[in-house]
Amino acid sequence: EKGGYPHFMIKEIMDQPACMMDCMRGRINVEASNIVLSAIIDNKDKLLSARRFIIVACGTSWHAGLIGKHLIESFCRIPVEVEYASEFRYRNPVVSEDDVVIAISQSGETADTLAAVELAKQKGAFIYGICNAIGASIPRATHTGSYIHVGPEIGVASTKAFTGQVAVLTMLALTLAREKGTIDEDTFRTVLKEFSRIPEQMQQVLALNDKIAELSKIFTYAHNFIYLGRGYSYPVALEGALKLKEISYIHAEGYPAAEMKHGPIALIDAEMPVVVLATKNRLYEKVLSNVQEIKARKGRVIALITEGDTVMPGIADFCIELPDLPECLTPLISTLPLQLLAYHIAVCKGLDVDQPRNLAKSVTVE
Ligand code: F6R
Repeated sequence: EKGGYPHFMIKEIMDQPACMMDCMRGRINVEASNIVLSAIIDNKDKLLSARRFIIVACGTSWHAGLIGKHLIESFCRIPVEVEYASEFRYRNPVVSEDDVVIAISQSGETADTLAAVELAKQKGAFIYGICNAIGASIPRATHTGSYIHVGPEIGVASTKAFTGQVAVLTMLALTLAREKGTIDEDTFRTVLKEFSRIPEQMQQVLALNDKIAELSKIFTYAHNFIYLGRGYSYPVALEGALKLKEISYIHAEGYPAAEMKHGPIALIDAEMPVVVLATKNRLYEKVLSNVQEIKARKGRVIALITEGDTVMPGIADFCIELPDLPECLTPLISTLPLQLLAYHIAVCKGLDVDQPRNLAKSVTVE
């Protein structure tokens, strides 16, 4: 059942290229430059006339929601709010018939997310679900939705569900943007073509597994970790930190890289590992200067970089090279080394990664 792997978590990490293909199957056609998400076709008017989108979710699914916000705002020019379901449901939130609520949940059973859906429905919003478990409570409570189709996720730490959620959000944003006329054909084609190649790119990144396992041995001493990223990489930093906390019991925080100097930089010393999402994009130079600031305080930097970057390897302590991709697709790739890092650090510490202490796979009570 674990396919020859010692844990479900590593099996599910390694399964991601195949899961991506399952998620895309029947939905994308690169030659015809087309994406078919039936929930969007069937509810086009409702979605396009929305005043705003509100994404409700918890944990890892909430991180996927933050990436969804960036995708939908960039491509569709529709305002998006991302809410913790637990906060949303107890606030008497301002929601009306003009709002579309996107509920993201792997299990489809998370109590807070389900309650948020019920509340938004009462207030007249249109509810779109992005779930994995077919026929679960949340997909049944929504008006429409798209399954991520990544297969059952057994490991308590969510991995393949996250990339599946981000993949569906990418297809949703691209489809709506085309319907709305807020994306030009060239961009649509380029992003779709690169998106279709994500499974191969994932494979290339997963080949770094042995290297990351070696690197992980160095960091079992740590009691704290910082993860930094900007733009599309900021939610990836949060997700990397959550994975580490959950299974290795190392305290970790993710920050938008530029927030460093507003406080967290005080934490940097020679003991502090800092994982930096530093792939090539508009903000690369700024992230580079963050890395220099960390090195000036002797922090230990693990940088995720775009292949061919010759500058960062001269500054960071360790570099992990990723394929060059359009910025909006990098989370689908950059999350993988962070999943592997968390996994291997936990394994090196002799911990049970599939059954971490105090955690349940689905949080069906508040
Ligand atoms: C993290 C993790 C949790 C879940 C959260 C929401 O690895 O598994 O943070 O993401 O409990 O669960 P779902 O997506 O089932 O609603």
